[in-house]
Amino acid sequence: MLVVENLQVEFGGVLALAGVSFSVEPGTITSLIGPNGAGKTTAFNAITGYLRPTRGRVAWQGEPIAGRRPCEIARRGVVRTFQRTSVFPTLSVFDNVRTGLHLRGTAGVWSILGRTPRVSAEERRLAAAADEVLTFVGLAHRRDARAGELPYGEQRLVELAVALAARPRLLLLDEPAAGMTGAEKDRLVALIRKIRGDDVTVLVVEHDMRLVMGISQTVIVLNHGRVIAEGAPAEMRAHPEVIRAYLGSSDAPA
Ligand SMILES: Nc1ncnc2c1ncn2[C@@H]1O[C@H](COP(=O)(O)OP(=O)(O)OP(=O)(O)O)[C@@H](O)[C@H]1O
Ligand SMILES: [Mg+2]
Repeated sequence: MLVVENLQVEFGGVLALAGVSFSVEPGTITSLIGPNGAGKTTAFNAITGYLRPTRGRVAWQGEPIAGRRPCEIARRGVVRTFQRTSVFPTLSVFDNVRTGLHLRGTAGVWSILGRTPRVSAEERRLAAAADEVLTFVGLAHRRDARAGELPYGEQRLVELAVALAARPRLLLLDEPAAGMTGAEKDRLVALIRKIRGDDVTVLVVEHDMRLVMGISQTVIVLNHGRVIAEGAPAEMRAHPEVIRAYLGSSDAPA
C-alpha cells in the first residue's frame, strides 16, 4: 500500500537518506526506528510532501506521490503528525481539530474558522465531526480549553486529533509518546490500537522501545540514512546490526 523505493534526500552534499526502500502493509502498525539523526523524520517529510526527495519513488496505493504538496497527499489519505508539538496554542482544542477538518470538506480552513454564513450548514456538520474525534481521543472534556494551556501529553493528543480529523488511511506519527508520562503512554498505545482497528494503517517513529516492541507487527531500522534491518519486533531486538547501531546511543532497544 505504501511503497518507498530508493529514496534519497541530500542536504548540502550530505545524504540524510541514502537510498531507502521499504513498504508498509495495509492494516498494520509498522515502526520506523533508529538512533538520533538516522533519517526517520526526513523519511516522513519526503513521504508526506514536506520535502522533495533528491531521488527515488514513493507510491501510495499504486500512485506516485513524491514531490506532491502536503495537502494533496493528505487528501489522498496520507496524514502525519510532527515531532515538535504543533498545536495552535491560543486556539481552543475544538478549533485546533477543526483546522484538520478542512481537508475533507469543501470549505477552506479560513472560512471554517471565520464562520461565514455560506458555510454554516457545512460548519455544523464539521463541528459534529470535530466533537466525534475529540471523544475518540478522550479529550471531549477539554473541548473549549486553549490548546497551549493543556499539559504537554494532552497537547500531543490534540495533534493526533487534528490528524485524525483529516480521515487518514495511512497515519504517520513522529515520536507521539515523546514527553508523555507512563500512564499517558499506556493510553496512547490503546488509542493507536483503536485507530488501527478502525482500518487505518499506522507508521510510527518512536524512541520508546517498550512501546515500539509492544504495538508493531513490523519494525524497520534506519541508521545513517539506510535501512539496516527489518522484521518482527523480537527479531529486531536481538539483531546484531541493530544492537551495534544503538551502542553508544542513549536509547538502546533493551
Ligand atoms: N533541513 C535540514 N537541513 C540540513 N540537514 C538536515 C535537515 N533536516 C535533517 N537534517 C540532517 O539529516 C539527518 C537526518 O535527520 P532526521 O531529522 O531525519 O533524523 P531522525 O532520525 O528523525 O532523528 P531524531 O531521532 O533525532 O529525530 C541528520 O544528520 C540531520 O542533521
Ligand atoms: Mg526525528
